[in-house]
Amino acid sequence: MEFSNDKKIVFSGVQPSGNLTLGNYLGAIKNWKTLQDEYNCIYCVVDMHAITVRQDPAELRRRTLETLAIYIASGLDPKENLLFVQSHVPAHAQLAWVLDCYTMFGELSRMTQFKDKSAKNAQNINAGLFTYPSLMAADILLYKTALVPVGVDQKQHIEITRDVAERFNQIYGETFVIPEPYMPKTGTKIFSLAEPTKKMSKSDENENASIKLLDTKDAIIRKFKRAVTDSDTCVKYAEGKDGINNLMTIYSCFTSKSMEEIEKEFDGRGYGDFKLAVGEACADGLAPLQAEYARLMADKGYLESILKEGASYASYLASKTLSKVYRKIGFYQTK
Ligand code: TRP
Repeated sequence: MEFSNDKKIVFSGVQPSGNLTLGNYLGAIKNWKTLQDEYNCIYCVVDMHAITVRQDPAELRRRTLETLAIYIASGLDPKENLLFVQSHVPAHAQLAWVLDCYTMFGELSRMTQFKDKSAKNAQNINAGLFTYPSLMAADILLYKTALVPVGVDQKQHIEITRDVAERFNQIYGETFVIPEPYMPKTGTKIFSLAEPTKKMSKSDENENASIKLLDTKDAIIRKFKRAVTDSDTCVKYAEGKDGINNLMTIYSCFTSKSMEEIEKEFDGRGYGDFKLAVGEACADGLAPLQAEYARLMADKGYLESILKEGASYASYLASKTLSKVYRKIGFYQTK
């Protein structure tokens, strides 16, 4: 794979720290393939970020490959998109260290994700959790990224990336491209099925709160049946009906029907019927992805070849930025 040099760079990443959910898919990955013609797109499996929270080694290894397979099964063609694993490209850690030295303690202390995660992992508030944004900044800045598709929860990390990049450019002259967050028009926020005001998250402890992309049809239907709604009986998109709104959003994503069409379809039919229909639409909608995923996972040789090729091209691109940075800050470089 090779990028044409007239296109802007898009970079995003997913941590292999849990089973990917419908939220990751509808809110992010599914939309990424629509960018592949217009941009040079890079999608990374950010395993180094994942270890800021304790991981089981065998699971981390398995999920790293699974995440890659899900990227591809979601339609990201490895010939068009650069797909790789973060730890395979040492420049990420190398640039992160440099950026650490240009990022202030006070800035990092203000990160809401750090505060949230420290509260959740009170026994393991490690330095990596604190400097997580510098590593993320390195991911982005190494590739001259213009656009970073992320959810709102990551916007603060893009802002600190911009601040640090601008600070560095001020001191040393134009070095980094200043990235912008990118929220695709089609990006959809999916909420928890158990607490529909909270984002659907792969780290939710409640089994029923999230649909995993690899859930069986039975599990999907069962979870939608249990989805929290309200005491009303009318399928209608309205304020205060967070549960129903979320289910309607999901149904709309899989059927391409508008909210009005959905309201008409379920007029007078009650929540039971509606939940079953959402479950079926979701299970059937995910079936092709699941089949492709299974096919890919049976071919580890192919997946590994993608990883090797991805790491090699990413290393080539990243090394150009890293050596420029090293030169600017005064690290001695031999000829
Ligand atoms: N922090 C992001 C998240 O948890 C993952 C991530 C790491 C990322 N590096 C990135 C996203 C670079 C976009 C760009 O969702």
